[in-house]
Amino acid sequence: MSAALKDVEALTESEAAAELARLAKEIARHDRLYHQHDDPEISDAAYDALQSRNAAIEARFPDLKRADSPSDRVGAAPARGFAEVRHDAPMLSLDNAFNADDAAEFLARVRRFLKWPEDDILAVTAEPKIDGLSASLLYVDGVFERGATRGDGRVGEDVTANLKTLDQIPKKLAGAGWPARIEIRGEVYLRHDDFAAMNARQLEAGKSEYKNPRNAAAGSLRQIDPAVTAERPLKFFAYAWGAASAAFADTQTKAVERLAAWGFSTNDRFARCDGFDDVAAAYDALQAGRADLGYDIDGVVIKVDRLDLQDRLGFVSRSPRWATAWKFPPEQAETTLERIDIQVGRTGALTPVAKLKPVTVGGVVVSNATLHNDRYIAGWRRADDGQVVKTENDIRPGDRVVIQRAGDVIPQVVRVLDATRKGRGKPYAFPKLCPCPLKTAVVRQDTSLGAETAVQRCSGEFACPFQKREHLIHFVSRKAFDIDGLGEKQIVAFLDEEIIDGPADIFTLEARNAELKLEERDGFGKKSVDNLFAAIRARRATPLGRFINALGVRHVGETTAQLLATTYGSWEAFRAAMDAACARDGEAWDHLLAVDGIGDAAADALARYFAEPHNRDLLDKLLAHVAPQDAERPASDSPVAGKTVVFTGTLERLTRDEAKAMAQRLGAKVSGSVSAKTDYLVAGPGAGSKMKKAQDAGVEVLTEDEWFDLVGE
Ligand code: IVH
Repeated sequence: MSAALKDVEALTESEAAAELARLAKEIARHDRLYHQHDDPEISDAAYDALQSRNAAIEARFPDLKRADSPSDRVGAAPARGFAEVRHDAPMLSLDNAFNADDAAEFLARVRRFLKWPEDDILAVTAEPKIDGLSASLLYVDGVFERGATRGDGRVGEDVTANLKTLDQIPKKLAGAGWPARIEIRGEVYLRHDDFAAMNARQLEAGKSEYKNPRNAAAGSLRQIDPAVTAERPLKFFAYAWGAASAAFADTQTKAVERLAAWGFSTNDRFARCDGFDDVAAAYDALQAGRADLGYDIDGVVIKVDRLDLQDRLGFVSRSPRWATAWKFPPEQAETTLERIDIQVGRTGALTPVAKLKPVTVGGVVVSNATLHNDRYIAGWRRADDGQVVKTENDIRPGDRVVIQRAGDVIPQVVRVLDATRKGRGKPYAFPKLCPCPLKTAVVRQDTSLGAETAVQRCSGEFACPFQKREHLIHFVSRKAFDIDGLGEKQIVAFLDEEIIDGPADIFTLEARNAELKLEERDGFGKKSVDNLFAAIRARRATPLGRFINALGVRHVGETTAQLLATTYGSWEAFRAAMDAACARDGEAWDHLLAVDGIGDAAADALARYFAEPHNRDLLDKLLAHVAPQDAERPASDSPVAGKTVVFTGTLERLTRDEAKAMAQRLGAKVSGSVSAKTDYLVAGPGAGSKMKKAQDAGVEVLTEDEWFDLVGE
């Protein structure tokens, strides 16, 4: 559990600025994980909490609002591999309501804005908020021309070929009366049964399972080869539109009816409501029936029905004033905690796992839940100032507990029921020795700054068979080497039988097969073994970013690995820099720390990794078989290479994200605040405190046009 956060009301100005910087970085990281990598780390509820805190701090300190404020941004810029598409009209996001009061306040706000007479009905609609990924489909003269993901809201990825494989997306509109040019908006999703079947196939193919239907849908849509998308049973609900060359309805209800008449699948739980009571009834009914819908929804979207009123209400930054998403709370259930097991992860972290009497939570049977760490179980945590703070928990085997499942993350034990009852079991004693066969001492992990954390770790590193297993499973996984036919099941079996001991051994399987005779094993045949060898051969050339990710260095996940790859360009340059950085001093170390997006913890973990002889040996062995491919590097001969740039005010030729991406592509570092290290402040109209600060600090200030002149684009 993270340490308690200070109340927004109690923050000083400098604390608020630091907190906004932290939140911007954190939210951007989660945006990338979610939008570009289809691999979120936190639940939607936890993400919403970060956004809410950011918004609350900005509301209290409007002057501190950052150039890269997460409240101005929707999602993340498109990932590589697809052409970019600029949406005719931006794809926006929805504001959230987390309870009935928020939802009522939304309706009240709309009425106030419109000066709607108190006694008059204001019709709204309520419909399920589908938990998939949004897409925009452009129809020109009734013909499907181009389809795109949301991307950052303005520019998405061109996934036309993939969207064309969906049965529920008409290639030509049916009926008549459609505008000559219209962007149809809706959600691509997977049904539960299709998702389960798809994951079963993934496992059979030795691939890792998708976490949830939404990630599976996103992963399926963003395939480079549309033939793969075609095999996935993706569905599409149309619920909105973007730019349209002509009006085609006067209410949301009629517009959705027209979408259906043109051949789209629309949601049958769409309801027209006369006010809050109707909306609340629709919300309750959907929440109660949620598990039986057959697909995931995470709330109810409320929209003002009349389109002329929608126009009058307009937008605030990234979301319409005329709609909101009333989110469902995380689903909870009660059950018995049968025992506590310890799981050892790839990085050796020991996680206590609650083994539960199986219970259904929102349609999913749950028998495991996380207990986070020993302190969470014992009912205390350490506050920022080091003080011990008691929490309500004191979780013991045999207890009745409340568990919670929020969307896709691992369910957690929230609290104990009836904690005062007589005859409770003994308090749980966290093991002092790792459950691995080495029985190494468990150590508490320190942060890079030397502070103690709640995480306890096996000290056996690679000698620990559990860690070795998790490392290898990660090595072959989808975001790393992605070896078809080699997944968790095969890795575990190969390790058990000593067919492999480290990653390099995967690449000698074929040469050793005269002896191994893999084709004679259960679950293998001649053909699958041939396919496996072909898949392994194909990975002898692996993009640098994947290669670095595959190493499983702590704090270096897919995104950080990719960042390192583009920063250093080649394996040789990266390795030389890391070897030098092991000294934690000197130019290489300073350079590593200065990479925007590499934190102290990642730098520290890299230095530790490359200093460890076992790892160096593992790398040398692996590199005898694998050639990491150079990454595309940002230009180093541009006039702004190595310079630090800050953007402020309203840019007119570029969005903030585009400006940032452009500067980074040209080798510049982009910062959110002006300091003595800033080389250029690019200021659009409305620039405020940053402009003054830059002038005071003697930083060169450029207009947007001057910036274009400078970089020569
Ligand atoms: S309307 C201007 N209706 O929720 C916003 N969105 O958090 C237009 N979503 O990006 C969106 N179900 O991906 C709308 N029935 C629904 C929806 C829905 C799911 C998604 C959509 C949007 C996100 C906003």
